[in-house]
Amino acid sequence: MTTASAPGKIILFGEHAVVYGRPALAVPVTQVHADVDIAASDRPGIWIHAPGISLRSELNSLPSDHPIAAVIHNFFFLARVSPFPPLKIHISSTIPVASGLGSGAAVTVALVRALAVHFNFPMTDEEVNAFAYEIEKIHHGTPSGIDNTVITYAKPVYFVRGQPIETFTVGQPFTLVIGDTGIPAPTKESVGDVRKLWEADKEKWEEVFDRIGRIVKEARKQIERGKWKELGGLMNDNHALLQQMTVSSPELDRLVEAARKAGALGAKLSGGGRGGNMIALVEPSDAEAVVRSLKEAGAKSTIVTKIG
Ligand code: PMV
Repeated sequence: MTTASAPGKIILFGEHAVVYGRPALAVPVTQVHADVDIAASDRPGIWIHAPGISLRSELNSLPSDHPIAAVIHNFFFLARVSPFPPLKIHISSTIPVASGLGSGAAVTVALVRALAVHFNFPMTDEEVNAFAYEIEKIHHGTPSGIDNTVITYAKPVYFVRGQPIETFTVGQPFTLVIGDTGIPAPTKESVGDVRKLWEADKEKWEEVFDRIGRIVKEARKQIERGKWKELGGLMNDNHALLQQMTVSSPELDRLVEAARKAGALGAKLSGGGRGGNMIALVEPSDAEAVVRSLKEAGAKSTIVTKIG
């Protein structure tokens, strides 16, 4: 049996503007992960069991644009696997689906790495990343590539679309509380809606994206210097711009407010928005109070994570 695992991720700063060429910062979240086991089988066919999404199917019964089927077909094409041998593939994930934690990209990365080991077809990180980006297009339409990049390399990334991967250092570790609205929100929709706004008034939105780009650069500088407390205000500013872009929601705003009231230094939505997750920057000693306050304000789950 071969196994592979990939972490979740969160975007610290710069979501949405990153689709338009501005930088974004994202980090892996190792408390949640996708795991794949592959074993040879006596039963004919390629059987996929993914209990988290209630999937138990033979490969050929899935539409070819199903993201999991697409990973397997694309891999077989790349590695010239023919005929298809009988296999059992088990996929499990603790990453909530459609919530901004990169569940789709993590399943892709874990699955292609498990296939690569099983079929003795070594792939570099660069190859895994390029492969996963093609699958992200099925999930998201026009993805920037940030999810697959952070998850493939499992490192903090300063991401600019189309440019070689650039990691950054964390001068002093800092603590984030991640709060999940529990509302699944497909990134494709919020990205599509931002595109409509942009098409209707490019000058206005390019200016907003520039402001986000400046926040991202400042945040990277402060993180590298170990001045993490400076990130609070930058998170609040970034959230306000995301609200203008209509990608927040009453539930996200309620959690962001609750975190700030409970002592967080700053808070913002993270990822595609409309639902999914928000993040709050906290002093480690305030993490518990912020978690409590997020739960009272309706968070379905919370994760406390240390960055760096
Ligand atoms: O919702 P997530 O975490 O998968 O991230 C989406 C990030 C966007 O900037 C909104 C879209 C993208 O492709 O970068």
